[in-house]
Amino acid sequence: MKTKAAVVYEFGKPIEIEELELDKPREGEVLIRYLYGGLCHSDIHIAHGDLPGRLPMILGHEGAGVIEEVGPGVTRVKPGDRVVCSFIPNCGVCRYCATGRQSICDMGATILEGYLPGEHWPATGPKGNYGAMCMLGTFSQYGLIHQNSCVKVDDDLPLDKAVLVGCGVPTGWGAAVNTAGVKAGDTVVVAGIGGIGINAVQGAALAGAKNVIAIDPLPNKREKAMELGATHAFATNEEAMQTITDLTRGQMADSAILTPGLMTAEIVQGGFDSVGKGGIVVLTGLNKMEEMSVNLSGSIMTLWRKEVRGSLFGDCNPTVDIPRILGLYQSGDIKLDELVTKTYTLDQINEGYDDLLNGKNIRGVLVHEH
Ligand SMILES: NC(=O)c1ccc[n+]([C@@H]2O[C@H](COP(=O)([O-])OP(=O)(O)OC[C@H]3O[C@@H](n4cnc5c(N)ncnc54)[C@H](O)[C@@H]3O)[C@@H](O)[C@H]2O)c1
Ligand SMILES: [Zn+2]
Ligand SMILES: [Zn+2]
Repeated sequence: MKTKAAVVYEFGKPIEIEELELDKPREGEVLIRYLYGGLCHSDIHIAHGDLPGRLPMILGHEGAGVIEEVGPGVTRVKPGDRVVCSFIPNCGVCRYCATGRQSICDMGATILEGYLPGEHWPATGPKGNYGAMCMLGTFSQYGLIHQNSCVKVDDDLPLDKAVLVGCGVPTGWGAAVNTAGVKAGDTVVVAGIGGIGINAVQGAALAGAKNVIAIDPLPNKREKAMELGATHAFATNEEAMQTITDLTRGQMADSAILTPGLMTAEIVQGGFDSVGKGGIVVLTGLNKMEEMSVNLSGSIMTLWRKEVRGSLFGDCNPTVDIPRILGLYQSGDIKLDELVTKTYTLDQINEGYDDLLNGKNIRGVLVHEH
């Protein structure tokens, strides 16, 4: 079947809208009608060539929609089911899934090539085979995806908000709750208040942090952080240091969660300096693969017993954590409505990413037309 999709043909060039042909679902695969797609910074890392994505690629890895058709052997979903897509699929049986680490499931190995198991390309078009970002490609009216990327959600959940729980919310929330292991009374620094960082703020606050210090150069981001759980906000890490020192009587923060659009050695150093003995620095933001963004004193790390941890998908287990977070939304403990700054049509995708890069949005959401 035909679908209109947002495609990257060349790194550094605008995203193009193309009509593509989707293949039929094979074993374990499903056809989804995407209703919404969230604009996450990671798609722009592909478009800019920071991440070595295979081109052409259909962008979009935050998505929600309705299952239209299922292939042979599909048991997780059926036609008519409303689902939130998980940006990393989970097979349930690899050594990582089997040990409660679904975010590093072996099935995620091809998320930057974008084909389905067995090198099944989801779509074809004028330039041959097209992969889909994270094996999803949510900036398309329809998608051919694997059932292991689908999490069925309650019928009464508004998908235009639930869509954010496909990446941004669990990635930020989990960076605080899982990777940093925030506990009641903690002091937590969150640097970079976009769609990810704002949810690290929400996660830290909900886990009981006493002080949540948000850092972002942009005033609109600091304001939103204060609205959703931060206790303090600063433009730079340097400006925050005195307050962190005062609030903790010199013991410094328990954790620093780093969620900037582009991770740099300077930002990592700032996080490292802001945590005290036994402190945890969480790296969530990305940069070019070859960028050396960690350059720290190993002696200080050892003598202060500090830790630096990478966090993918907030160390969440999507089959459990997507429904868990949606439950917290339903109870009013996690805000989603307040995270959507602006909506876009598929044709406005470049405008949406300009807005993201210009710091206008907490999250932009693409609304599909069919
Ligand atoms: N690890 C994962 O699983 C995962 C998942 C999704 C996204 N990401 C990455 O997380 C990062 C954030 O994504 P997003 O969608 O929230 O991006 P975003 O562009 O919406 O937000 C980034 C924020 O960082 C701020 N910022 C820039 N420089 C800063 C600095 N020096 N100090 C503090 N803040 C600074 C910007 O003003 C902006 O508000 C991206 O690199 C993205 O690729 C990682
Ligand atoms: Zn993302
Ligand atoms: Zn697995």
